[in-house]
Amino acid sequence: MEGNRADISLNRPRKHNALNPGMIEDLHAVLNLIAETGEIQFLVLKGEGKSFCAGADINWFVAAGEKAKTDNWQEYLRMAELLKVIHQLPVVTIAAAHQNVLGGGNGLLAACDFAVAERSTAFAFGEIKLGIVPATIIPYVAKRVTIQNMKKLMYSGERFWAKDAKEIGLIDFMADDGKLGKVVDSLIDGLKLSSPKAIQACKQLLLKTETGEVSVETSEYTAGVLAELVHSEEGKEGLRAFLDKRTPDWQKLNVAQN
Ligand code: COA
Repeated sequence: MEGNRADISLNRPRKHNALNPGMIEDLHAVLNLIAETGEIQFLVLKGEGKSFCAGADINWFVAAGEKAKTDNWQEYLRMAELLKVIHQLPVVTIAAAHQNVLGGGNGLLAACDFAVAERSTAFAFGEIKLGIVPATIIPYVAKRVTIQNMKKLMYSGERFWAKDAKEIGLIDFMADDGKLGKVVDSLIDGLKLSSPKAIQACKQLLLKTETGEVSVETSEYTAGVLAELVHSEEGKEGLRAFLDKRTPDWQKLNVAQN
């Protein structure tokens, strides 16, 4: 943790950070902590060693037969919940991927607000080739990739590259190899110019309206958030700064409010 930024590394490098129940619970615990402290604005999720993440641990699936189906379901539910927690975390989440993003690794990445990958990164939804399905990750991949492209990639399990991933919207930025950290740092530096509270409010607005459904409640809610923000210290500072022809000082406000 450094200032208002936290970096989480998947740390099972000898297995290419393949996800197992222990890792899933560790991630739940650390994300819970981050949400509770309220001090973190940026979270970077990365992978230690050769890969970002090679998906779920295949041994975990193979051993499923030793347990009751309901127990398997409970474990997979924890994975589904983990993706939901990442997606809804009240901080800006950034996946920083390299080398391999396979199966469930795509879910971790897609659930983040932003995804950056090195140029040489290989992607695949290989579950179909194992006789299973990319189940828990689909809702999050579907927020980024069209159903048609998902059919193409998920039915075939074919490998594709960072350039393709960017083209279909699975990732937002591509970094030259060895420059992943730099691209993530400059993304964060750019976001630091925006009001932290307004970014957080914007994320909540997007989460609440992402289905695209519009009702009276939607209008009342969105107008309410705007009314809140124009009265907030950061709203007042940002609006005043524009008229004063100066850069808003979010840092000063955060210090004053703490
Ligand atoms: N689950 C369990 N173990 C995995 C794994 C996974 N998803 N991905 C890699 N590993 C293990 C390998 O079995 C191997 O274990 P071992 O050292 O005990 O033999 C170790 O990680 C190193 O992998 P290896 O295949 O030897 O390395 P590589 O550099 O040749 O290839 C990958 C790396 C990631 C491309 C390759 O391991 C792979 O395709 N993994 C499976 C990915 C997949 O299908 N994921 C979807 C799961 S639903």
